[in-house]
Amino acid sequence: MLVFQTKNELKSHLSYINSNAKKVGMVPTMGALHLGHASLVERAISENDTTVVSIFVNPTQFNNQEDLLKYPKTLEKDIELLENISRDIIVFAPSVSDMYSNRVASKKFDFQGLDKVMEGSFREGHFDGVGTIVESLLLTVAPHRAYFGEKDFQQLQIIKKLVALQNIPVEIIGCPILREPNGLAMSSRNERLSEELRNEAGFIYETLKKIREKFSDQNYETILDWATEQFQLHKNLRLEYLQISEEDTLKPLDTKKKDKKYRAFIAVFADGVRLIDNIGLN
Ligand code: PAJ
Repeated sequence: MLVFQTKNELKSHLSYINSNAKKVGMVPTMGALHLGHASLVERAISENDTTVVSIFVNPTQFNNQEDLLKYPKTLEKDIELLENISRDIIVFAPSVSDMYSNRVASKKFDFQGLDKVMEGSFREGHFDGVGTIVESLLLTVAPHRAYFGEKDFQQLQIIKKLVALQNIPVEIIGCPILREPNGLAMSSRNERLSEELRNEAGFIYETLKKIREKFSDQNYETILDWATEQFQLHKNLRLEYLQISEEDTLKPLDTKKKDKKYRAFIAVFADGVRLIDNIGLN
């Protein structure tokens, strides 16, 4: 399997592929790969001639330095996981200095409010960091399609906005959330939970499914009050936010409109580990 560590080496290899009019799919990741990432990679392989997976722990999107330091770096294992999917995958695993030269800082974007709610309001500067690195990765690889998980639905909407704002010619494809058998959304952070807590965290998805059931005939406040009470019975799971929003604007639900799609979003702390999830409601 080809592994490139610099933008220049990757670009010169890809210019050869592009000159043969092949379709390139890209899956940006921060490594510590699991089956959720694998599902994006498999989709990219099935829809393109060549698939590039980037593995880069992006420092500018971490608002919390401790979180950055604790972020698992498992490149060899990641490569093994990808090799088991296909040896034709191209891996791009650059260094911080290759991606940022000597200025490790974010650009500022105007995501038209998409970055001001939920993750954006609890993680200062996070989406400018995501936007900066995703723009740079997309410009380096110049894929025809790029794949992102609905696990990070707000990120997915922001990346769609980013490519529109910056006129990047790529199709952004959202992919469904992969879950553990108890419903917990797969995440590299789940490894940091004790077995007991990992089991208990299945409650997050249970609650989201009940919110979906209630959404057709109950009002917003009643549903949120009910869910907040449920979390008070699970002292190990501390609710950070729970919000029902319109999918396109991510604005909190005001009055339900027939032609709009809505989604419930949640962030929970489980013994210091921050877990996020969401579910489509209609
Ligand atoms: P990372 O957290 O590694 O996630 C990489 C991609 O995998 C994202 O698009 C994410 O939504 C998707 N993903 C994670 N868990 C998933 C699951 N359980 N089911 C389906 N997809 C899942 O998101 C990032 O990295 C970074 O912010 C990045 C976009 C790479 C920019 O640095």
